[in-house]
Amino acid sequence: MKNLTVFLSVIFIVFFFGGIMPAHADEMVLKPRVPADKMALAKGMANPGSLDKGFISAGKEIYTGKGRCVMCHGETGKGDSPMAAAFNPKPRDFTNLQWQKVRTDGEIFWAISEGTDYGMIPFGSSLSEKERWELVNYIREIGRLANPTLAKEQ
Ligand code: HEC
Repeated sequence: MKNLTVFLSVIFIVFFFGGIMPAHADEMVLKPRVPADKMALAKGMANPGSLDKGFISAGKEIYTGKGRCVMCHGETGKGDSPMAAAFNPKPRDFTNLQWQKVRTDGEIFWAISEGTDYGMIPFGSSLSEKERWELVNYIREIGRLANPTLAKEQ
């Protein structure tokens, strides 16, 4: 009887955390980061370098170089750097298809410029506007490389 209780508890825990937790974690990742009163402004921003190879390669340089994004978001952009464990929520995983779909270019630009309430630091005063757009386009490229369906939609 005791064993059965333990067995059922284990099953419950596995299903509960296996089923409910990831959905909940995703919700946290997908929820908007731009304050409601700034959302229209962010969404209205036009990306000056969409799909531009020059922007993408410049963005990659800044990501690993002067921007030091790599320190937290990792080499592959999956948010799995050694430092990532210290954050909750984790530094964003740019290969996350749902996240790539739900965010507009302007919202990504806004987060890089202003930071977020959950641990992303602002780069608006340390990187130029062009550099921040280059990063947006590199982040989009990471998403396309990890999710071929995204590339087809663009
Ligand atoms: C000190 C660690 C750290 C560094 C350095 C860092 N980030 Fe982040 N970043 C985070 C964390 C933590 C989050 C998750 C915060 C959240 O969920 O709001 C995040 C989230 C983001 C997001 C997601 C915002 C959203 O709307 O979901 C973007 C985009 C981003 N970072 C881009 C960058 C870029 C580009 C750089 C380099 C210029 C960079 N980050 C450098 C820690 C970092």
